[in-house]
Formats: sequence, structure tokens, C-alpha cells
Amino acid sequence: MIQTDFLKLGMKNPIIIAAGPWSRDGKSILNCLETGAGAVVTETIVSDTILDVRPRIAYDGNGVQNIRLYSDVQIEGWEREIAIAKSGKGVVIASVSAHTPSEIAYMATKMEKFGADAIEISVSNPMWESLEVMASHPQTIFDMTKEVVAHVKIPVLAKLSQNTTNICKVAKAVKEAGGSGVSAINTIRCILGVDIEEAKPSLATYGGYSGDPIRPLGLASVASIAQTVDIPICGVGGISDYKHAIEYMMLGASAVQVGTALMLYGKEKIKTMVRQVEEWMENHEIKSVEQIRGKALKNLLSFEEIKIEPTISTVEGVPCDIDCTDCIKACIYDAIEKENDTVEVDVEHCTGCGLCIFLCPANKLKLKW
Ligand SMILES: Cc1cc2nc3c(=O)[nH]c(=O)nc-3n(C[C@H](O)[C@H](O)[C@H](O)COP(=O)(O)O)c2cc1C
Repeated sequence: MIQTDFLKLGMKNPIIIAAGPWSRDGKSILNCLETGAGAVVTETIVSDTILDVRPRIAYDGNGVQNIRLYSDVQIEGWEREIAIAKSGKGVVIASVSAHTPSEIAYMATKMEKFGADAIEISVSNPMWESLEVMASHPQTIFDMTKEVVAHVKIPVLAKLSQNTTNICKVAKAVKEAGGSGVSAINTIRCILGVDIEEAKPSLATYGGYSGDPIRPLGLASVASIAQTVDIPICGVGGISDYKHAIEYMMLGASAVQVGTALMLYGKEKIKTMVRQVEEWMENHEIKSVEQIRGKALKNLLSFEEIKIEPTISTVEGVPCDIDCTDCIKACIYDAIEKENDTVEVDVEHCTGCGLCIFLCPANKLKLKW
């Protein structure tokens, strides 16, 4: 058990299953809870359910594009579904979306009455330009959050879109409106690819990008919010391993959400992730998320703060007998050569860019100055 105070929801660990079709009704939420996750966010509930298009989920081996729209269950149907979900004794967060503050507040009050433990406002949607514009507008998010906060007693999270010029301004609006926290980030507007023989994009319209490739964007969003706004953050985007969850926490998240990994790799993967986060914390004698939250931020400088030093690599004569020339190919400064199973770095040419270190599969190169 990892102590986590996130929104005072009494979660047994900081890993939450994100909103998506895997949490589309009570039964599937129960299924998500079997992963051992600390909470589940419902698929987004709207007043007008929309028929699904097909196909709606594409995958290229790296990331996922989806054009799935919201829960198929009508608002009133969620009374039954939340009751089923709560029979699993887990924490259930209801995700709601609407076009106006009064409509979203109405939906949030319904979900509170049906037994939801918290609300997540999810107004961004990469498929619909109008919603993306709304989600990137601090005043709109302020109005939505304020209205929901005024009508419910349970905690209110707002899920933020990365498709905005300044995510911190939107997070600040949530705080000023009395929101309890933010989830960052939702999927990102994308086209996964084009079949060049058919001249056909992967799916029929723009969709939301998720999975591993969006993690660096999610990490940067969480870090920049943590550096500028004092509000609890739930990190979302590209988490498929326990280390990713810890990375998000070290950059300021109090909890994390996982979506695509559950869909691509199944329940067992999430069970393992929960166990490995617990083991990692135990091995490091960490009892509470608070002990690691934001720990990496002190090492995250603004560009102006980085000390500029004359940098030359002193890597010389590294024995290397593996059949690989990645470092040589990548060196745009022509500083690396390999002879007689030894990698030589020419200190006159090396400028210390560091790329070879990240590329070396055997972890043999080190930058010293
Ligand atoms: C198929 C699919 C459906 C999704 N549906 C919703 C949704 O209904 N509401 C929502 O807020 N986010 C939705 N998301 C976004 C996820 O909750 C999450 O924010 C995003 O996928 C990034 O996390 P991940 O990389 O772990 O999936 C959906 C994502 C996918 C892949």
C-alpha cells in the first residue's frame, strides 16, 4: 500500500485507470478495478450519446489514434452503472463533458447523487475543433469548473488538453475557480499515417494520439504546471511501465492515469505496474507519494540557468566488441572511429552533444569534462 492523499479519495495507490472505452460501464469499471488500481475514471459521460464510427482505433506499433466518442450509456443509466462499479468497493471518478457550464454542472450533480467519488471535467476533444478551442481557453475552463464546484461537494478535477499555447494558464484558471486538481494530458490531435497506395489516412478524421509517444509531452506539461501553479496534478499520457509512473511523480504529479497500456497490453500489465511501483517505493524506503513528488524538479533548469562550460569528451579507447556502429553513424561531428574492437573519440572534434551516449546499446560511452 502506498500512501497517497490525492484529493483525499482514500486510494490504496496512486495509479488510476484513465477515461476510455475500457471504463464504459459498471462491469468494465469492475474489470479495471481488478488491476489493483487505486481508482477508475469512467469513460466521458455526455447528454447526447453518439453512435460509434468504425474503424475508430488505429495503431502503428508506437502510438494509437482513436476517434471514439464518449460513453454509450445515457446520463440516467449511470445510476445503475455507478452502483455496479461501486460494488467493487473501489474509487470511481465520473468524467463529464458538455458545452455550457450549467449543463456540465447538472451532469456533475447527477453523478454525485449516483455515488461517484469525484468529478473529472473533460471538455477537450481532438476530434472536434470547437471543443479543442474551448479546452484551450482559460476563461471557459474557469467558468465550467466554477459552476461544477458550486454545485457538488465531491472533489472536482479538470482534464487539460496539450493542444493549447499555455497549459499553465488553463491550470491556473482551474485553481482560481476552486477546482481540486488537474489531470494532464488528454490525447493530442493527430493523423497516425497515410496509406500512400490508397491515399487514405489511417482513420476517417483527425483523432486523439495516445500511448508511449505522447509521454514526453505529458511529462513536460506536468512539470511546467508543477513549477507554476500550486494545485494537485494527475499525470496522464504514455505510461506503460512502473518507471513512467514514478517519472511523472518526480516531476510533480500526486497520482497518475493509465489508458492505452491497459488497452494494448491487458490487465496483467497494469497489475505488474502497480506491484512494481510498490516494490520500488519499498526498496527506496518510501511510504508516501509526497516523499518523491516533484523531486526531479530541482534538476530541471530553465535554459538560461544551465552553466555553459567548454565541453570536450574524454572518452578514449573504449573496448567494444559488439557488432554495432550506431555511435559512428550518429556522430555529426565525425569524432568517433572504431578500430580493433575499440571505440576512439577524437577530443578535437567531439563537442559533447551527448547523442552517442543515448544511442549506445551497451552503455559504454560517458561524457566527461
Ligand atoms: C480509445 C480511447 C478513448 C478515450 N476516451 C476518453 C474519454 O472518453 N474521455 C477522456 O477524457 N479521455 C479519453 N481518452 C484519453 C485517455 O483518458 C488519456 O488521457 C490518453 O489516452 C493519454 O493516456 P494514455 O497514453 O495512457 O492512453 C481516450 C483514449 C483512448 C485511447
